[in-house]
Amino acid sequence: MSILKVNDIKKSYGAIRAVDGVSFAVEPGEILGVIGPNGSGKTTLFNSILGQIKPDSGRVEFEGVDISGKSPLELSRLGVGRTFQNLQVFGKLSLRDNLIVAAQEFHGSFWGRMFAPSDNGLGARADEMIELFRLGHVADLPAGSLSYGQQKLVDIAMAFMPAPRLVLLDEPCAGVNPSLVDGLRDLLVQLNQRQGGSFVVIEHNMDFVMKLCHRIVCMVEGRVLAVGRPEEIQSNRAVLEAYLGN
Ligand SMILES: Nc1ncnc2c1ncn2[C@@H]1O[C@H](COP(=O)(O)OP(=O)(O)O)[C@@H](O)[C@H]1O
Ligand SMILES: [Mg+2]
Repeated sequence: MSILKVNDIKKSYGAIRAVDGVSFAVEPGEILGVIGPNGSGKTTLFNSILGQIKPDSGRVEFEGVDISGKSPLELSRLGVGRTFQNLQVFGKLSLRDNLIVAAQEFHGSFWGRMFAPSDNGLGARADEMIELFRLGHVADLPAGSLSYGQQKLVDIAMAFMPAPRLVLLDEPCAGVNPSLVDGLRDLLVQLNQRQGGSFVVIEHNMDFVMKLCHRIVCMVEGRVLAVGRPEEIQSNRAVLEAYLGN
C-alpha cells in the first residue's frame, strides 16, 4: 500500500490556478522529489496535503486513510511531519529544548502527559537526534544564537523527533551554505535508512535532488509535467524547456 496518495488536488487564488489537478503516490521508504520553477505550485501543494490550507477539491490518503481536511496537529499525531520553507525554531529556547517541545506537542492530551513518565524519553530521543545531526557542541545554546544553517538543521531535527512515517520538507537547502549541502543529503539518507520513513522533498538545488531522490515529480503552472527517476527527469526535454524558459 502507498504511504501517501494525492488525488486530483486543485487550489485557485482568484484567477491563478496555483495547483491544477495534481495526482501522485509515495511508496514506503521512498524519497520523492518535487521540482519546478518558482510559482509552479509546490508550496501550495504541500500546504494542501498538510492541512495548512483547504484545497478547492481533491483527496489525500495516508496509509490508505482519507486525511483530507485534517489539521497539522492531527496529522503529526498520525505520523506525518513537515519542515517549513521559513524557519520555525523558538529563538530563546536551547536547541535541545526546541527538540523536546517539538515532540511534546505530539505526545497527546494534557491528561496523557500528566500520567506519563516525566519526559516520555524525549530527552534521550533529543540527544539521539543531536548526535546524528552533529550539533552536540551547540545543544545548550539558545537556538536564535546559531547560524542560519544550524537553525535549519534544528528545524529538520524537530520534524524528525516523533519518528514520523512520512516527512514533507520544503526547500531544506535554501539559505544553507553550499559546503554543507552534501552533509545535509547524507544526513537525510541516513534518517531514511535508519527510520525507514518516506520523504517528499521540494528543492531547487538540482544536484541535491538528483542525488537524494529515488523519483522526481516536476511541476509547471500547477500541473505535473513529468514523473520519473532522476536520470529520466534530467534528460526530459519538456522539463529542460520549462527551466530554460523561466
Ligand atoms: N496565499 C496566496 N494568495 C494568492 N496567491 C497565491 C498564494 N499562495 C500562492 N499563490 C500563487 O500561487 C502560485 C503558486 O505559488 P507557490 O505554491 O508558492 O509556488 P512554488 O512553491 O512552486 O514557488 C503563484 O502564482 C503564487 O503567486
Ligand atoms: Mg515554495
